[in-house]
Amino acid sequence: MNPPSCRPRVLVTRAVFPEHLERIRAHFDAELNQADVPIDAADLASRLHGFDGLLCASGDRVDATVLANATRLRGVSTISVGTNHIDLAACKARHVVVTNTPDVLTETTADFGWALMMAAARRVTESEHWLRAGHWERWSLDQFLGVDVHHATLGILGMGRIGQALARRGAGFAMNVIYHNRSRLPGGIEQECRARYVTRDELFARADHLILVLPYTRENHHTVGVPELAQMKRTATLTNIARGGLIDEDALADALEGGRLAAAGLDVYEGEPTINPRLLNLAHVALTPHLGSASRDTRRAMGMLAIDNLIETLAGREPPNRVS
Ligand code: DGY
Repeated sequence: MNPPSCRPRVLVTRAVFPEHLERIRAHFDAELNQADVPIDAADLASRLHGFDGLLCASGDRVDATVLANATRLRGVSTISVGTNHIDLAACKARHVVVTNTPDVLTETTADFGWALMMAAARRVTESEHWLRAGHWERWSLDQFLGVDVHHATLGILGMGRIGQALARRGAGFAMNVIYHNRSRLPGGIEQECRARYVTRDELFARADHLILVLPYTRENHHTVGVPELAQMKRTATLTNIARGGLIDEDALADALEGGRLAAAGLDVYEGEPTINPRLLNLAHVALTPHLGSASRDTRRAMGMLAIDNLIETLAGREPPNRVS
């Protein structure tokens, strides 16, 4: 009979790539979910007992209830930079280390934010749906007129790594880049990003294209609501690649329906994967299913980093990307 394994036991909530599996199997006794069956919070709570580590992603809620019976748990490693799905205080109270995957996704996510902003401004997805539906009969001068991106004012709310990467892209489009952030960036970084710090009000009022890239917290729930949308130009676009809860989606739908905003680009939603039906019914919103970091290389790197974080945590060493 084989002796009982003393390798850490890890629960993996999502299907992962073959190279991830290899690394997971080399280090852990893992319960996998290669069928990618959604695990809700109640299910997670009942299954987590007896595991030393959890490898999860942004759709997995890890709160005090989920942790209640997880008496062996020492590490939660999320394959995401965002950690709003994890109750950090509850983890800390139970001495559970939490790690995330920053840096490796910065440029890829900025690329996607840029693509979504362009799609909204130039009506890419809207016109494609129309064309696929067989409506195109002739070229016309006023067909799907959009708003220019080049030489326009790019507004960035949240100037962390991804915000800075977006600002750097703005230079290539000769944009005037303004930003607002909890704290102003050092002068050297502002200069490198060619971005100017403005007040929050000024950001909403002056941006031609506003992109949200700030982390979601309870305090900034619906940080873009009726008053903020009313401050924006009627010709402006709003793009969200951060978290859905940052926008009051009904207020956004009202603004778009009332012609008080030109267009929106959304990659994240408050109740995702359920989408507010009003948004689904609006033509001038480019909608994508939370794909910001979804390039093959980046998702591979995120998975590897998350596994490395868990290996270090469960070996009792300091993991590279400890959040709390
Ligand atoms: C992140 O890394 O936070 C992305 O939004 C994917 O969840």
